[in-house]
Amino acid sequence: MADTYSTLLIERHTDGYAVVTLNRPEALNALNSQLLGELGDFLEAAERDDSIRAVVLTGSAKAFAAGADIKEMSDKSYADMYLENFFARAHDRVAAFRKPIIAAVSGYALGGGCELAMLCDFIIASDTAKFGQPEINLGVAPGIGGSQRLTRAVGKAKAMDMCLTARMMDAAEAERSGLVSRVVAVDALLDEARKVAAKIAAQSPLAVIANKELVNAAFDTTLSQGLQFERRLFHSLFAFDDQKEGMAAFVEKRKPVFTSR
Ligand code: HXC
Repeated sequence: MADTYSTLLIERHTDGYAVVTLNRPEALNALNSQLLGELGDFLEAAERDDSIRAVVLTGSAKAFAAGADIKEMSDKSYADMYLENFFARAHDRVAAFRKPIIAAVSGYALGGGCELAMLCDFIIASDTAKFGQPEINLGVAPGIGGSQRLTRAVGKAKAMDMCLTARMMDAAEAERSGLVSRVVAVDALLDEARKVAAKIAAQSPLAVIANKELVNAAFDTTLSQGLQFERRLFHSLFAFDDQKEGMAAFVEKRKPVFTSR
């Protein structure tokens, strides 16, 4: 697979993961249709590529992404937005990615940038990260999941506060509020994200997909449906060699060698 994109930098690691860096520094990584198209193309290719078992999505020290590209959006009509189904395809392509995708956020994650980070499975933030949904300042509102995912992550009070006042949340508040899973010093961000990705990439790919599907199900089902799904999926994992290997390795006090693709 040739990793030639004009708005993304791709680093592949022999440990089984790839780091995707959003690369529009002149616009603080504002998300335009080209960047989102390329990200979707990369994820589709990565889905089929057995050498990639996890993805880290990151930006620059100053900005993960400062939002959807306002210059690209500003002249669009309602008909343009409706016919293009603006950014719905981009949203769906990231949401449909079955392998783990971790956002490593430093600096601004605003508007569509915050939404893109929240579309990932979890967020590791640097201590300089700033999250916000400032669309109201532009006379609009979140459009690729922010009002829903932010509210589920931090609760109504903080989500309302952020959406209605455009206030940014710093890394410490984001960690306290459950928006990010961990916060590290800015210089340690990529090392931390790489370690996390390598750790996930070393697990059974079947168990990884099962765990991701199960946690995601908690957002879309009732508790009893979710529990039933969990029970069935848990039982089904006993059909795979990786379960035998994982448990045998524990008993024999050695590291497991997972062989499923
Ligand atoms: C286009 C952007 C941009 C954006 C920054 N830039 N954000 N271009 N779209 N979202 C450009 C600036 O125009 C400028 O280009 C360059 O990046 C550097 O930005 P500055 O503003 O000069 O930097 P700074 O003073 O450090 O301020 C940083 C900032 C500010 C606070 C992040 O850039 C800012 O407020 N950006 C907009 C944030 C925002 O409103 N995001 C939500 C967008 S709406 P030039 O050419 O002047 O040097 C959205 C909707 C999602 O995301 C829904 C989609 C369906």
